[in-house]
Amino acid sequence: MSKCIAVVVGAGRGRRFGAGMPKQYCRLGGWPMVRRTILAFLDHPRVNSVRPVIHPDDKVLFDEAVLGLDILEPVDGGDTRQESVRLGLESLADLEPDLVLIHDSARPFVDDGLISRVLDALESQPGAIPVLAVSDTLKRGFEGLVTATVERQGLWRAQTPQGFRYRDILDAHRKFSGAGLTDDAAIAEQAGLAVSLVAGSEENLKVTTQDDLRRAEMRFDGRMVRTGIGFDVHRFGPGDHVMLCGVRIPFTAGLIGHSDADVGLHALCDAIFGAIGEGDIGSHFPPEDPEWRDAPSETFLRRAGELVAARGGTIANLDVTLICEAPRIVPHRSTMIEHIADTLDLPKRLVSVKATTTEGLGFAGRGEGIAAQAVATIYLPSNS
Ligand code: CTP
Ligand code: MG
Repeated sequence: MSKCIAVVVGAGRGRRFGAGMPKQYCRLGGWPMVRRTILAFLDHPRVNSVRPVIHPDDKVLFDEAVLGLDILEPVDGGDTRQESVRLGLESLADLEPDLVLIHDSARPFVDDGLISRVLDALESQPGAIPVLAVSDTLKRGFEGLVTATVERQGLWRAQTPQGFRYRDILDAHRKFSGAGLTDDAAIAEQAGLAVSLVAGSEENLKVTTQDDLRRAEMRFDGRMVRTGIGFDVHRFGPGDHVMLCGVRIPFTAGLIGHSDADVGLHALCDAIFGAIGEGDIGSHFPPEDPEWRDAPSETFLRRAGELVAARGGTIANLDVTLICEAPRIVPHRSTMIEHIADTLDLPKRLVSVKATTTEGLGFAGRGEGIAAQAVATIYLPSNS
């Protein structure tokens, strides 16, 4: 697979925005805007790392905004966007990416699908940019009067991320440094590189003015946070392994159940169903239905994830606790987290798996079975 690095430029001063701090550090839905922007790339499976470009005066704001994120060290930008991008590209020389995605920190709503479309196009072209068709009639004007109507056929509004083969765009940026061009596709054009047009998204707006930020903030106003709780128990029986959170763990007993008896995933499914008011695992997958005999529980989890998506929801956090004296869970925790995250197509940082014993007390303490509890936190549109 190609090595791809996202260069997120945020060295601008936000003059049109005109607030006490540069717009990319203003809060949006509770987080600094640039954190949301960077996370969109960090969470994409085909992006290997993120190089932020910042203004040297913003170091403290930046460090606070990206606290805890695993990204490359920021580098200082220049006086123009073009210069900031060039400096970001120069800083990647030792890392030798095959592809770069150049993105404005002020476009926090870029989504996975859009990033994938740009990367797909780069498989056959040296450059690719997301665009939107122009739907309004275009007028040329002078001193308050219309002077002409401009044919809108073939005109597109360019967004970011703009994707390129690294060597090509670095050479082009070096060659046309100081040319005063406002996007990277313009530089590619000067250098004679073919740039493909892929579908952009209306959501992927650039915050330029305070009004833009107010409108962007409204996307979060209507959201509801809902939580659900799940609990499950399975009894030990004959066997040589248990399935816990999708991981097969060799053991001196098995867990008895109609499906694979994965008590962790069952508790988690119930938590998700609870958060979206969709009954419980038994109502979706009746134990008397032969279809679910020995079924892998990830089938249930995937279905729960699909129901969340169908309601327009997004999962904010999942937390599972396994309760048993044995087997030992800790060596398998990260594989369990990975399995849940993969099944639901979620970043791993939104999933937690923990384990505890009951100090030898009760059924779990006597080694008669395993219990699990889970909590799911989900954002839903308020009208759902
Ligand atoms: N940018 C940059 N370096 C610059 C100028 C702009 O990295 N010298 C970045 C901005 O931080 C922003 C993106 O390029 O993420 C798009 O620029 P723009 O929306 O124009 O942001 P600002 O330049 O900050 O705003 P303004 O033009 O209103 O001052
Ligand atoms: Mg600017």
